[in-house]
Amino acid sequence: MLSERVKTLKPSPTISLTAKVRELRGKGIDVIGFGAGEPDIDTPDFIKEACARALKDGKTKYPPAGGIPELREALSDKLKKFNGVDYKPSEIVVTVGAKLAIYLILSALINEGDEVLLPSPYWVTYEDQIKLCGGVPVFVPTSMEEGFSLKLEEVEKRITERTKLIIVNSPTNPTGMVFKRKELERIADLCLQKGIYILSDECYESLIFEDSEFFSIASLSEEVRRITFTVNSFSKTYSMTGWRVGYVACEESLAKVLTSINSHLVSNTATFAQYGALEALKNPEGERFVKEAREIYRKRREVIYEALKEIPNVRVLKPDATFYIFPDFSHYTSKAGGDVKLAEYLLEKAKVAVVPGSAFGADGFFRFSFALDEESIREGVRRVKDAVEGLV
Ligand SMILES: Cc1ncc(COP(=O)(O)O)c(C=O)c1O
Repeated sequence: MLSERVKTLKPSPTISLTAKVRELRGKGIDVIGFGAGEPDIDTPDFIKEACARALKDGKTKYPPAGGIPELREALSDKLKKFNGVDYKPSEIVVTVGAKLAIYLILSALINEGDEVLLPSPYWVTYEDQIKLCGGVPVFVPTSMEEGFSLKLEEVEKRITERTKLIIVNSPTNPTGMVFKRKELERIADLCLQKGIYILSDECYESLIFEDSEFFSIASLSEEVRRITFTVNSFSKTYSMTGWRVGYVACEESLAKVLTSINSHLVSNTATFAQYGALEALKNPEGERFVKEAREIYRKRREVIYEALKEIPNVRVLKPDATFYIFPDFSHYTSKAGGDVKLAEYLLEKAKVAVVPGSAFGADGFFRFSFALDEESIREGVRRVKDAVEGLV
């Protein structure tokens, strides 16, 4: 008999969609995939070479559970320079991707029945990880009409005695939006007052296109820093999704607990992968790569936004950041019997893969990833337009 905790567990919809697309392509079917949550650009060579060098130099044994000292040093410098937060190397834990960082935090904090505030739409993994750790996700709605901004009143009225943590993911997957500084300042004050921890997932910080108000919540004050877990990753920034290198920065006594859990779960992040990540931070090529990638995604954002606007009865906002756009297709999903049904129809009829919004708590929307070339974006959206216009 399986545990109660895994009974409601859903497979990651984006990973299963990617698998379905791979399967169709394997059969020679020309599918345009807007589903993938990862860059289509390869990891730069200078990072791969550093990893190869590390392997050659025998960096093949267990390193310290919290990460190799050089990488934690470099991350401490990066957090100071880029994010304006002072974290000592001993306050940084290198993890098997940001996914594991989030799991370490939840398992360190959550007792059975504790509540976690989750602004919605939300990245699907948060919900399942909260439940896996015995917690209860409490959704805080945001709306397209208000640019998916996070409202203090909406947070405040959902706080109970069981509220332990709020997860703030800005820039946000799936909407591509960046929360306003003023709103986050008020929420941080509220968390201080009520004794609620903050998990700030900043994985898409390098993909901000506008002069937006992004900042690291932990940079607000020393008090806020002490209740915040700053989570980040090399996956999206350096096109290193398969490498599995992420990290969490937090107050030292909390970092010790996370390191201890990490040591029991996975021992460490692959040693040679950490040397690749170190090179990404240290080599000036890293900054150049990030800039170039951002420009590529910025152009694609224009292409997909303009193309989606051409579909009648679809509402769409231009994302501030990320490689996601989150249009409202409810006019068509209601005709098709729901967003999952319409996504299946699009895959079958138009050979286009999109992720239904219900996977992110937003029925009637679709998440399109624009981590694919401009030509495919144009062709894919054209196919979607033809297919939905054909619905009766
Ligand atoms: C918001 C968000 N956080 C974390 C992750 C996971 O990143 P990693 O590859 O470092 O586990 C993703 C990946 O899709 C994401 O969208």
